[in-house]
Amino acid sequence: MDINCTAKELFVFKKIAHAAASLGLETYVIGGFVRDKLLNRSTKDADIVCVGDGIELARAVAEQFNPSPNIAFYKNFGTAALKIDEFDIEFVGARKESYRYHSRNPEVEPGTLKEDQHRRDFTINAMAISLNETDYGKLADPFNGLEDLANRIIRTPLEPGQTFSDDPLRMLRAIRFASQLGFTIEETTWRGICLHVDRIKIISQERITEEFNKILLSNKPSVGLDLLYQSGLMHIIFPQMVDLAGAEYIDGKGHKDNFYHTLQVVDNIAPHTNDLWLRWAALLHDIGKPATKKFEVGHGWTFHGHEVVGGRMVPRLFTKLKLPQNEKMRYVRKLVELHLRPISLTKENITDSAIRRLLFDAGEEIDDLMLLCSADITSKNKFKVKRYLSNFNLVRERLQEVEEKDRIRNWQPPITGEQIMETFQLPPGRIVGEIKNKIREAILDGEIPNSYEAAFNLMVEKAREYNLHPKQ
Ligand code: CTP
Repeated sequence: MDINCTAKELFVFKKIAHAAASLGLETYVIGGFVRDKLLNRSTKDADIVCVGDGIELARAVAEQFNPSPNIAFYKNFGTAALKIDEFDIEFVGARKESYRYHSRNPEVEPGTLKEDQHRRDFTINAMAISLNETDYGKLADPFNGLEDLANRIIRTPLEPGQTFSDDPLRMLRAIRFASQLGFTIEETTWRGICLHVDRIKIISQERITEEFNKILLSNKPSVGLDLLYQSGLMHIIFPQMVDLAGAEYIDGKGHKDNFYHTLQVVDNIAPHTNDLWLRWAALLHDIGKPATKKFEVGHGWTFHGHEVVGGRMVPRLFTKLKLPQNEKMRYVRKLVELHLRPISLTKENITDSAIRRLLFDAGEEIDDLMLLCSADITSKNKFKVKRYLSNFNLVRERLQEVEEKDRIRNWQPPITGEQIMETFQLPPGRIVGEIKNKIREAILDGEIPNSYEAAFNLMVEKAREYNLHPKQ
């Protein structure tokens, strides 16, 4: 075999070849596995295609192992899958129709290997390696996928209009591969995408979001995000991003293009994190800007409150994009809401209390927030960037100092709501909340030390305003 397989993979392929030979089925490894091996990328699954019944082959392969692995059947698609150790293997019969993977139920007509390769998405994904006795390990590459791989090109095997209308998700896949692999989309293929963008509307949101997330997780997400924008796909799948684009001018004063600024921020953060949600926070940090944009005479463009408006947009966007409605969403919202705080500190005298407040509000997310903020410094003016970064490093140092001293990061006030209720025999309610806030604010502002005794005394003093006294 010309590709660099692990001993485990070779062992499994031999078993498949054996089972295929016993059934008299022409069989190949095809698609992403072959592509990724040739690119020296890691792989954990392989697609096997045979000229005949893929399910029958899967059964025969399972029997070769002791104990036999469980087989998952996708009857609608004539597909079966099994797992050997951590290696996922999917079996399918060669077909003439397009690969509408796990979505609809196309009228599947059996075909030859060549017909099957024709109906795959890209030349680099249509290469197959023989598992047949006569030419075991030989590459079947009818569309010069190998050459496209070497030249780093994404190209459809058929006329692009045909490939993309067979499965419009492939338009996103083309852009995702370009972003993930750093490949260029060949010109005719690119025109095909631009012409068919509207067809993306028939694809489910889940599949769209899966591809979008992969773009966001690529090494340089701006490649894919910009292609989405240039093709017109972004206008359909994520119009709020498009609203960020462009710069308006009044009285000769313009503002920066917030779409390209956002792309820069996402690229800046990418080398520092593979966390999808931190990357989402970077993508959405300025999403409230279009809604808050104003031109103030004598002052220029402002986006007052865009962090709050942006934060409020996060739950709605997550719902629309079918992203989770859980702590991941709350995390992104929090970072969007707080993204200006560390930078605004660098403009004033940095007091201990301002630092304590930031630590308290950001909590566990302080390091991610600082990462987002440094990624947000994107001025074209090198001196400005240098100045911002050095101020910013000062904030970093001060955060560390104050945290070491006051331990605010996971801080719980020394007196809890329950203790307040118990001391004054109070039911839960507004007054308890107000006393608790008073104590918290006083500690954060440095008015009283972070101790039980000081907090207790302040509690008693504040309670007096409500005519309350500790019960014995
Ligand atoms: N395929 C296709 N059209 C699609 C999806 C998949 O033609 N819309 C074909 C391609 O030949 C692809 C193979 O099915 O290589 C396997 O698809 P999949 O596992 O979804 O993608 P991979 O190419 O393996 O890449 P990745 O795992 O990164 O998604």
